[in-house]
Amino acid sequence: MTKYLVTAALPYANGPIHLGHLAGAYLPADIYVRYMRMKNKDVLFICGSDEHGVPVTIKAEEKEKTPQEIADYYHDLMKDSFIKFGINFDNFSKTSRHLHHKNARYFFKRLYENGYLEKKSENQYFCEKCERFLPDRYVEGICPHCKFDGARGDQCDKCGRVIDNVSLIEPKCKLCGSKPIIKETEHFFLKLNEFQEKLKVWLESKTNWKSNVREFALGWIKEGLKPRAMTRDLKWGVEIPIDGYENKVLYVWFDAPIGYITSTMEWAERIGKPDKWMDYWKGNDSRLIHFLGKDNIVFHAVIWPSMLMGINDNYNLPYDIPANEYLNIEGQKISTSRNNAIWLNDYLNDFPPDIMRYTLAVNLPENKDSDFSWKDFQTKNNSELADIFGNFINRTIVFIQKYNNAELNANIDLQDTDKEFLDIINKKMELMGKYIENYKSRKAVYEFMDIARESNKYFTITEPWTLKNDKKRLNTVLYVCLKAVTILSIASEPFIPFTATKIQKFLGIDNLDWDDYKNIEPLLKLTTHKMPILFSKIEDKTIELQREKMFGSKKEEQGDMIEFGEFKKTQLVVAKILEAEKVKKADKLLKLKIDIGCEKRTIIAGIAEFYKPDDIIGKNIIVVKNLKPAKIRGVESKGMLLAASDKDKKHLRVVFASDEANPGDNVG
Ligand code: MF3
Ligand code: ZN
Repeated sequence: MTKYLVTAALPYANGPIHLGHLAGAYLPADIYVRYMRMKNKDVLFICGSDEHGVPVTIKAEEKEKTPQEIADYYHDLMKDSFIKFGINFDNFSKTSRHLHHKNARYFFKRLYENGYLEKKSENQYFCEKCERFLPDRYVEGICPHCKFDGARGDQCDKCGRVIDNVSLIEPKCKLCGSKPIIKETEHFFLKLNEFQEKLKVWLESKTNWKSNVREFALGWIKEGLKPRAMTRDLKWGVEIPIDGYENKVLYVWFDAPIGYITSTMEWAERIGKPDKWMDYWKGNDSRLIHFLGKDNIVFHAVIWPSMLMGINDNYNLPYDIPANEYLNIEGQKISTSRNNAIWLNDYLNDFPPDIMRYTLAVNLPENKDSDFSWKDFQTKNNSELADIFGNFINRTIVFIQKYNNAELNANIDLQDTDKEFLDIINKKMELMGKYIENYKSRKAVYEFMDIARESNKYFTITEPWTLKNDKKRLNTVLYVCLKAVTILSIASEPFIPFTATKIQKFLGIDNLDWDDYKNIEPLLKLTTHKMPILFSKIEDKTIELQREKMFGSKKEEQGDMIEFGEFKKTQLVVAKILEAEKVKKADKLLKLKIDIGCEKRTIIAGIAEFYKPDDIIGKNIIVVKNLKPAKIRGVESKGMLLAASDKDKKHLRVVFASDEANPGDNVG
């Protein structure tokens, strides 16, 4: 049986997952995998966190944590969000693990021995003020290809193209803003030029690939491939397996894709068949399918295949690379620095996963950039999930429960209207399958909702409420409706899996295969319990609140009372005091170094008259986490602690949290 090894791009462990990631790679991959599993295909779904390279070290410097602390923190957070969102990888690994380092060093060594890596000196940006080389994201400037201001040293996020060495226009050091100089440094280069012809033939044969992916890769090849540096002047990363390069590590884009292999090995180990990973990576009848966003295309369609060819270890090349374009939010490019982003963990605090899964599925940027808006989210929930899908299921169930003690009989007599309706469903199910197999989830999800639409139509036309005196006809109509509900529970599973499970539990069936739609007979006896509400309406107020979270409140102050939602916007967390010292020439102020779980911060607190530094070091306090930083006596204070005092400020008590609490724990 054909094997399918499905990967989703390893997310950088430098922040939580946001909607752009989901729409680009994870949701389309999950829809595909869920469908393939329902088709009983042999599919393995692999991912992990990408923990090396500059994205993680920059974050660590910003947050005053070690890169490993940052990577561990975000690995756990991402893993948790994926599970809560219904994205169930067979394995979710970490590239900082020993096995991965071993694999990456092995790849490097092999490529070196096979003559595909060469040592060469090249020019690199060097910041004289920071006294360091500025690899990749440590330098920003204008993209020489598309003139986007904000391109990084190795790649432009706007046009997705890789940037040749030191070719940024107006480069700036990311750390101090000064203009870097150019300095020579020695690196190992992958001789991409040696794969030029083979890659071209291979890519040209991939006529069924999405055209954006194929053309993008072929375009790069047409310009002529040049050797590319696969090492960096950094301390954080995989060590180079060749003596004399102790201050350099492998380029993160060299080791990261190898993480797919590591993660597969870990999975094989876990299920007790340690060699089984090879069936997926090297088997004759195995298909390697990489889901990812546009900015990852060159790495997967050009550099990674070159590595797989060059290592010469019988690895399969990617079978397909269904890459998506970008998702915008409220008409604007996602920007994590400008807070134009929606984080998955935040979202999951406020709403169930299925509404977002559905809204994104309808809006996936499959062929061009697409847009998410909260208003649309509300409409999709209220007018489609609730009014069409939920409504049909609910009215069918309620009707059957009222009729004959929740039981239908097997005496079914289908008329033309019934057959035509069931026929439409069958056709749509078949069509959905074709669409998903070809990575056209948008079209598939449309057909899914259309089945619900047709079902409502059928209900309206057959008017079961007029059939009280025609028991036989009523029985048939309700049977057809129940069959439609059952099939809808199958059709919905790739998109809204939590809801699908809820429906199937209620119907007393589970583990349905996709093809069961062809001949499934619904269970004729239903429970008399009340059907749970599948989707409730989202009010304008709720949506307004989400928009305010992103854009800030536009409303004038409305007196002293605040809404519960406004209070919820204040993030209170437990913080541990690591250091405390008096602020010079300021009797009342203490400067505190605190740990709030995800980062360490400095805050200035007006408590020096009441507490000595030694009294409070090691104690847990409560701070407001999402307060705009303020400069106090020249020191940036990022947060505020809670304390209570009398009117004249003669007595003051800091609010301490229990010693057992952990930094970062939520309060409120
Ligand atoms: N971490 C990269 C990103 O978020 C993706 C890495 S994919 C892998 O853009 F193939 F390298 F793993
Ligand atoms: Zn560009």
